[in-house]
Amino acid sequence: MALQRIDKILSSQNVASRSEIKNMIKAGRIFADGKQVKRPEEKYDPEITVMTVDGNKIEFQKYVYIMMNKPSGVLSASSDKHARTVIDLLPQELKRKDLFPAGRLDKDTTGFILITDDGELAHKMLSPKSHVYKLYEAECDRDLNEDDVKAFKNGIVLGELHFLPAELTLKGGNRGLVEICEGKFHQVKKMFHAVGTEVTALKRLRIGGVWLDESLAPGECRELTIQERSDLLK
Ligand code: URA
Repeated sequence: MALQRIDKILSSQNVASRSEIKNMIKAGRIFADGKQVKRPEEKYDPEITVMTVDGNKIEFQKYVYIMMNKPSGVLSASSDKHARTVIDLLPQELKRKDLFPAGRLDKDTTGFILITDDGELAHKMLSPKSHVYKLYEAECDRDLNEDDVKAFKNGIVLGELHFLPAELTLKGGNRGLVEICEGKFHQVKKMFHAVGTEVTALKRLRIGGVWLDESLAPGECRELTIQERSDLLK
């Protein structure tokens, strides 16, 4: 990895703000490969340098991957002048620069949203070519039936919009599970609209091979495990 200023590296890892790190350097609390760091401008390769603060090793993480159980009423955007966003909900210890939600859930949609600073992974996860399936649980304004299942399987057409064939699993009454690998605007709602019903509640349960951790209350989040990170693109 390219060389970077030590104050920049450590602030990206949430050690402290850049001005606090400057003070820590002055106080002689930061070491790189066993040598005391003297100036914030000193440059290191964060992937190979052993960095310590007060003798504690900093485990450098190039990117972070956070699973959030998005509550209704919150925007999946990085920032917004008026409404709260999923980034606003992150606890201080997980906040870092450049985090963004990978893909959008509507304001009233709940469930699994991935927040990361890894643009490449986000791109792969969202591209229909990668065939990363997302599973949604929908509640509709009428009971669902086998005709709906067939329509989804045949590929829904709504005006100019053509959706790929999708699996709808009936969960009883007005509830169903839908699996899609595209991410067209309001896709699930539009697919149900095309078969004559409106979605009254929508929750994303799974991305690729990773299920929403149901122990997360709405608005809560946690980092993905290493296993989950690789299961995302399954
Ligand atoms: N499909 C929708 O209609 N809305 C979402 O938030 C996600 C998928």
